[in-house]
Formats: sequence, C-alpha cells, structure tokens
Amino acid sequence: MEVYETSEQVGCRVADLVSEVVSEKPDSVLSLPTGSTPLPTYKELGRRVAEKELSFDRVQVFILDEYVGLTPSDPQSYRATIKREATEILGIPEDQVYGPKGESDTPELAAKQYESAIRDAGGIDFLLAGLGTNGHIAFNEPGTSFSERTHVVKLSEETRRDNGRFFIDSETPSHAITQGLETILSAQRIVLVVTGENKADALAVALGQIPSTSCPASALQYHGDVTIVADRPAARKLLLSLDAKG
Ligand code: GLP
Repeated sequence: MEVYETSEQVGCRVADLVSEVVSEKPDSVLSLPTGSTPLPTYKELGRRVAEKELSFDRVQVFILDEYVGLTPSDPQSYRATIKREATEILGIPEDQVYGPKGESDTPELAAKQYESAIRDAGGIDFLLAGLGTNGHIAFNEPGTSFSERTHVVKLSEETRRDNGRFFIDSETPSHAITQGLETILSAQRIVLVVTGENKADALAVALGQIPSTSCPASALQYHGDVTIVADRPAARKLLLSLDAKG
C-alpha cells in the first residue's frame, strides 16, 4: 500500500499509474469509477492531456457500474457523470465509452450483454476502483459472491444513504448493474484508491482481515497485481492493525 498525506498527492500518484499504462498501450481497455475519490486523479490527468503530455484518444472505457432506471441523459446516471468528470476532459471519444444499460426494461439481460462487451473488447487491462464505506467495490454489496460476473444488485440502505447526497429532488435508485467481483478480478491490473477518514474502517477490514464476502473489497487480496493508493486518514486503522500484528 502506498500512503500519501493529501488527496491531491494520491490523485497525482494514481494519475502516474494510469499514464504509464496508456503510454505503454495507447489502445488500453480501462475500467473507471465515478465518485468523489477519483476526482483529483481525473483533474491531474486532464491537465496532462491539456498540456499534450498524454493522449487517451484510442482507449476504451468500461464504467464499473450504473443505476437501474436512469437514462444516460440523466445527470445522475454514471454514464453522464463519467462523461462530465472524466472522459470529456480526457478527450475520450463518446463511442469508446461503455456503461451498463441501466435504462433497459430487462436489466438482467443488459448485465449479461455488458459482460460480453467487456469480453469482446479483450478484457480489461487496467481497472481503477474506489471503496464504499461498507466495503463495497463498484456496487458489489456485502454478501456478494466473489464469483459473480456483471449482475443486477439491490443497493444496501447504507449505500443509498451515502449516495443520497446526489439525489436532492428524486429518490435514490434502489438497484444497480455492476461489474461483478469476478469481472473485476479478471482485470490485468487493479488500482484501489481510497481517501478520507470515513473509509478507514472499510479499508482496515478489506486488507487487514481474511477475505470474506461480508467485505467485497477483500476479494482484491486474491488478485496478483493490485496497488492500493490511500491518504493517511483512510490508511490509519489498517496501518495500526498491521503494526499490532507485527
Ligand atoms: C459508489 C460507486 C463506487 C464508488 C463508491 C465510493 O457507490 N458505486 O464505484 O467507489 O461510491 O464513492 P466516493 O468515492 O464518492 O466515496
């Protein structure tokens, strides 16, 4: 695990990791998350693109997850959010950005089609993920089997409460389509980015304890190429528990 003092430093470090991948393989298949945590990363990458240090024009992006019932034009859909906060500033053409079709009348089928689309693209080279306060990764809620592929989930009350901040005038959706843990673990390389004291418990359980479906992010312990980049408030409890174990 790499620990930095500020979320901006975390953002720069993760931007370095993304830059390395895209410089090495300009047509990389990336999986990117929404959320507040990756914003400093996207900002720094946007700066590098604006200064022509880096180009994303050949990458493909598969969003990690999407709410069921929202159309891509809904500003709270993850499709609209990732466009606004990441892919537009990175200069990634819209037809190279994919997300689960949350607006579908048959979300289970849409989930299967999304999984096939990832497979048809040759799989994910590099996956960036954030962490939910309950240990979720993408929208894989506690209790999800580690062997699930892209599927429909019922969101937990804690997740709906956390994400309710974005739904001022409407109900927070109750379901989502998410890449499954098996889909995520199939990525060649994973970076988990975690900032803020409110993630300290989840991170300590995810990496400091034996993997368990009660903490979906603990599945990452089974992947051979994961980098955790955290700020000190998020890492504090995990560092304490590792110290205590000697
Ligand atoms: C959401 C998303 C996750 C994200 C998590 C943390 O529930 N489905 O992909 O990692 O929230 O969000 P934040 O970074 O805003 O704390």
